[in-house]
Amino acid sequence: MTQQYDLLVENIGQLLTMDHGDGPIKGEKMAEAPLLENAALAVKDGKIAWIGTSSEAGDKTAAKTVDAGGKLVTPGLVDPHTHLVFGGSREHEMALKQQGVPYLEILKRGGGILSTVKATREAAEEELAKKARFHLDRILSYGVTTMEAKSGYGLEKETELKQLRVVKRLNEEHDIDLVSTFLGAHAIPPEHKENPEAFLQEMLNLLPEIQKEELAEFVDIFSETGVFTVEQARSFLLKAKEMGFQVKIHADEIDPLGGTEMAVEVGAISGEHLVGASDAGIEMLGKSDTIAVLLPGTCFYLNKDSYAKAREMIGAGASVALSTDFNPGSSPTENLQLIMNLAALKMKMTPEEIWNAVTVNAAHAINRGESAGKLAVGRKADLVLWDVPNYHYVPYHYGVNHVNTVWKAGKAVYGKEREDEQVYTS
Ligand code: NIG
Ligand code: FE
Repeated sequence: MTQQYDLLVENIGQLLTMDHGDGPIKGEKMAEAPLLENAALAVKDGKIAWIGTSSEAGDKTAAKTVDAGGKLVTPGLVDPHTHLVFGGSREHEMALKQQGVPYLEILKRGGGILSTVKATREAAEEELAKKARFHLDRILSYGVTTMEAKSGYGLEKETELKQLRVVKRLNEEHDIDLVSTFLGAHAIPPEHKENPEAFLQEMLNLLPEIQKEELAEFVDIFSETGVFTVEQARSFLLKAKEMGFQVKIHADEIDPLGGTEMAVEVGAISGEHLVGASDAGIEMLGKSDTIAVLLPGTCFYLNKDSYAKAREMIGAGASVALSTDFNPGSSPTENLQLIMNLAALKMKMTPEEIWNAVTVNAAHAINRGESAGKLAVGRKADLVLWDVPNYHYVPYHYGVNHVNTVWKAGKAVYGKEREDEQVYTS
């Protein structure tokens, strides 16, 4: 007998569709998390073909039926800011951190980002790909089906392109959809210490090749004390825009330098970190289309007392997204669920705001609003079944993985419903 659908997920306690209109969700609208109770969902050819109530599901047929057990189903999560591809690791910096040596001081001494640059330059492309694949498998296991990945551990042509090629290849090979950002301006390399302007020009000179090989959609820069000034970042991003890239910025992460205002002024798709955003910057953000990508895991891991002012940003009307900032220095974690816990505890975001921030708004922050972050008929069936009774539960119960099963385009790629043997690449 021919089945109507490939997959039917029935008996869903809460189906968080996050389907509320076009565009990123701003300000007080972030208090809404659209959901259906006692729901069911069917998939055909990788797409959502039907959404309805559990009782309506009775007369549907499918090649595979999954009983969700009254639990939660959501869109696959979106992680909009990661430094996925790198060589080595930085556990040796823990002792320095414990002695109170600040992050920027470690960088100034030639460690931090520059230590990862050395390891990444030395690593073969194959080795970087294998390592990134291992992290991707783990990211997927936490429920992420779409994410961004930045370069920035090369700071010279060959290694930057090597990182970007790894991302392009993994996007084709791996179940997670990857969106690539060129972050060649991530630090000043030792060989250019005396002349950051010449270095920035060298990075801009790579853009035509990056464009030609379709290696990145976005250009990003780290504007920070001892790295690039806000003015250097502004001029760099404007040039990248002229060449047809959308821009993002690591702004006001550690010191409040006015990067938030600049992000809005240059029309960045996202301003990222924004811990030191000024009141004026927050107000501008609230009136703009620039999405605030907040990374509380970094504040936690850098042992900071203050976190980005999410409440004020939402109050001002801004659209907020959340991300791990997965990287070997300031945020070594693949766990976006932990970031949801930190957003609740440290930034006082509500469960509804948090779910908007890791689905629809995160998708818009990487230009994937049309394909990721919400569940609706006709959209790709990127779904997560959670072993939790409701959506409030995930930001509450911390430090563990709540995922039961992840489906990518209707195929179970992680968890209990996956049919083939789980394969890890490590
Ligand atoms: O977002 N601040 C710049 N970049 C990363 C950290 C990278 C690293 O420490 O390796 C961040 O915090
Ligand atoms: Fe970052």
